[in-house]
Amino acid sequence: MSGSRVCGLSDLVQDEAHRVVVDGVAIAVVLDGKGAVHAIGDTCTHGEISLSDGFVEGETLECWAHGSAFSLLTGRPLNLPAYEPVPVFEVTIDGDDVIIDPALTKEV
Ligand code: FES
Repeated sequence: MSGSRVCGLSDLVQDEAHRVVVDGVAIAVVLDGKGAVHAIGDTCTHGEISLSDGFVEGETLECWAHGSAFSLLTGRPLNLPAYEPVPVFEVTIDGDDVIIDPALTKEV
Protein backbone atom coordinates (compact mmCIF):
# COMPACT_ATOMS: atom_id res chain seq x y z
CA MET A 1 0.00 0.00 0.00
CA SER A 2 1.44 3.38 -0.92
CA GLY A 3 0.99 6.55 1.08
CA SER A 4 1.45 7.64 4.64
CA ARG A 5 -0.75 7.73 7.70
CA VAL A 6 -1.80 11.39 7.92
CA CYS A 7 -4.06 11.21 10.95
CA GLY A 8 -6.43 8.94 12.78
CA LEU A 9 -10.04 8.53 11.74
CA SER A 10 -10.86 9.38 15.35
CA ASP A 11 -9.02 12.73 14.96
CA LEU A 12 -11.60 13.86 12.41
CA VAL A 13 -14.68 15.79 13.41
CA GLN A 14 -17.71 15.39 11.19
CA ASP A 15 -18.26 18.37 8.87
CA GLU A 16 -14.93 19.95 9.76
CA ALA A 17 -11.73 20.06 7.74
CA HIS A 18 -8.43 18.84 9.16
CA ARG A 19 -5.21 20.19 7.62
CA VAL A 20 -2.32 17.81 7.09
CA VAL A 21 0.97 18.19 5.24
CA VAL A 22 2.33 15.11 3.49
CA ASP A 23 5.64 15.25 1.62
CA GLY A 24 5.30 19.04 1.55
CA VAL A 25 1.77 18.94 0.12
CA ALA A 26 -0.95 20.63 2.20
CA ILE A 27 -4.17 18.62 2.14
CA ALA A 28 -7.59 19.25 3.65
CA VAL A 29 -9.05 16.01 5.03
CA VAL A 30 -12.80 16.09 5.55
CA LEU A 31 -15.17 13.64 7.20
CA ASP A 32 -18.50 14.47 5.63
CA GLY A 33 -21.93 14.19 7.19
CA LYS A 34 -22.44 10.73 5.62
CA GLY A 35 -19.21 9.37 7.15
CA ALA A 36 -17.11 9.45 3.97
CA VAL A 37 -13.55 10.79 4.15
CA HIS A 38 -12.34 13.14 1.41
CA ALA A 39 -8.99 14.75 0.75
CA ILE A 40 -8.49 17.78 -1.49
CA GLY A 41 -5.69 20.29 -1.97
CA ASP A 42 -5.71 22.69 0.96
CA THR A 43 -4.67 25.84 -0.86
CA CYS A 44 -7.46 27.84 -2.48
CA THR A 45 -6.77 28.45 -6.16
CA HIS A 46 -7.87 32.08 -5.80
CA GLY A 47 -5.40 33.05 -3.08
CA GLU A 48 -2.96 31.67 -0.54
CA ILE A 49 -5.73 30.68 1.83
CA SER A 50 -6.00 27.39 3.69
CA LEU A 51 -9.32 25.79 2.77
CA SER A 52 -9.21 23.87 6.07
CA ASP A 53 -10.00 27.15 7.80
CA GLY A 54 -13.23 27.34 5.82
CA PHE A 55 -16.61 25.66 6.14
CA VAL A 56 -17.84 22.19 5.22
CA GLU A 57 -21.28 22.30 3.67
CA GLY A 58 -22.58 18.96 2.40
CA GLU A 59 -19.96 17.73 -0.07
CA THR A 60 -18.20 21.06 -0.44
CA LEU A 61 -15.50 22.97 1.40
CA GLU A 62 -15.97 26.73 1.23
CA CYS A 63 -13.07 29.18 1.30
CA TRP A 64 -13.69 31.68 4.08
CA ALA A 65 -11.97 34.52 2.24
CA HIS A 66 -14.26 35.10 -0.75
CA GLY A 67 -16.72 32.24 -0.61
CA SER A 68 -15.75 29.84 -3.40
CA ALA A 69 -17.06 26.38 -2.48
CA PHE A 70 -14.91 23.49 -3.74
CA SER A 71 -16.46 20.09 -4.43
CA LEU A 72 -14.96 17.40 -2.20
CA LEU A 73 -15.65 14.92 -5.03
CA THR A 74 -14.15 16.73 -8.02
CA GLY A 75 -12.07 19.56 -6.51
CA ARG A 76 -13.86 22.03 -8.75
CA PRO A 77 -15.03 25.37 -7.40
CA LEU A 78 -18.79 25.65 -7.78
CA ASN A 79 -18.80 29.43 -7.74
CA LEU A 80 -16.49 32.37 -8.40
CA PRO A 81 -14.09 33.96 -7.74
CA ALA A 82 -11.97 30.78 -7.85
CA TYR A 83 -12.22 29.00 -11.20
CA GLU A 84 -9.31 26.51 -11.13
CA PRO A 85 -9.84 23.15 -9.36
CA VAL A 86 -7.77 21.84 -6.47
CA PRO A 87 -6.47 18.24 -6.67
CA VAL A 88 -8.47 15.38 -5.17
CA PHE A 89 -6.48 12.64 -3.45
CA GLU A 90 -7.20 8.95 -2.97
CA VAL A 91 -7.90 8.10 0.66
CA THR A 92 -7.40 4.67 2.20
CA ILE A 93 -8.86 3.86 5.60
CA ASP A 94 -7.15 1.03 7.48
CA GLY A 95 -8.64 0.60 10.93
CA ASP A 96 -8.17 4.04 12.53
CA ASP A 97 -5.49 5.09 10.04
CA VAL A 98 -6.24 7.63 7.33
CA ILE A 99 -3.68 7.02 4.59
CA ILE A 100 -2.98 9.36 1.71
CA ASP A 101 -0.36 9.29 -1.02
CA PRO A 102 0.00 12.89 -2.25
CA ALA A 103 1.28 11.55 -5.57
CA LEU A 104 -2.01 9.70 -6.08
CA THR A 105 -4.63 12.14 -7.32
CA LYS A 106 -8.00 11.05 -8.61
CA GLU A 107 -8.91 11.49 -12.23
CA VAL A 108 -12.12 13.48 -12.05
S1 FES B 1 -8.90 33.19 -1.55
FE1 FES B 1 -10.35 31.58 -1.67
S2 FES B 1 -12.04 32.46 -2.73
FE2 FES B 1 -10.55 34.09 -2.61
